[in-house]
Amino acid sequence: MRSFRKTALRNFEEFARDFSRAFPSLPYEQYPTRCPESFDLWNHLLNQVRSRKIELKLVQAAYDVFPYCNYKTDFDLLRTNLLRIIDFIPLDHIERVLSVGCGSCVLESFMATCLLRDRLVLGVDLSSRMLRAGVGLIPGRELVRVTKADASMLPVGDASVDLVLSFSALHWLPNFPRGLSEIQRILRQGGYAFLTFNEVGFGRELEWRSHLEPAASVVLNEHEVTDYPNGDRKVYRRLVITKV
Ligand SMILES: C[S@@+](CC[C@H](N)C(=O)[O-])C[C@H]1O[C@@H](n2cnc3c(N)ncnc32)[C@H](O)[C@@H]1O
Repeated sequence: MRSFRKTALRNFEEFARDFSRAFPSLPYEQYPTRCPESFDLWNHLLNQVRSRKIELKLVQAAYDVFPYCNYKTDFDLLRTNLLRIIDFIPLDHIERVLSVGCGSCVLESFMATCLLRDRLVLGVDLSSRMLRAGVGLIPGRELVRVTKADASMLPVGDASVDLVLSFSALHWLPNFPRGLSEIQRILRQGGYAFLTFNEVGFGRELEWRSHLEPAASVVLNEHEVTDYPNGDRKVYRRLVITKV
């Protein structure tokens, strides 16, 4: 296990170097939430989040305008998520993987190449532009099959997936509990889910525990808090659950 972890970390550093050559990070002023071309669109979306009336078409448009991986990739966060996946999920028993809100499939591509060789890795996302962004540029991206779909209506059968991943996507759902119940519907008994989302962000707070337990048991529960100078607070939640 120790040598598997060590090899995975070494491969990840190489992956991060290749990735950064393809997608150099942009300065904050050029983020879609800041730059003039997309500022209004994102502002409108964030106001919808604050008033809890999120329209899917606006989420899709916001991510279609400027794919996330083209401006921001936090490798420290990706590395932490990778290590938690290795430490808390028995990957030997995983055959079918689905990532919800996979976007450009950054960690999914790395996992498909280095951790999940010969397993089926699927991704769904609302934004076609996000799904295309990494094709031919992210090492291993060709190993992830993707389709455009809404996380609230996943296009796979009941109990058909061994591992669900979802990185930083579920907080965009108009109906967050519905997204959690879809994940539990598609997971087989004994299957795992690795979920990260902003439990608190843009004035919205999400309750997850009552929508998971007792049907799922929580294996890992961590959070990180960021306080912004304007008084806003973000709580990033990281969960590993298993369906009982
Ligand atoms: C912050 S990005 C994260 C992308 C990717 N998981 C990552 O970590 O780089 C959020 C993603 O969630 C997707 N998303 C938001 N709402 C969704 C929904 N209802 N169904 C599917 N995807 C959704 C967006 O299109 C976007 O690609």
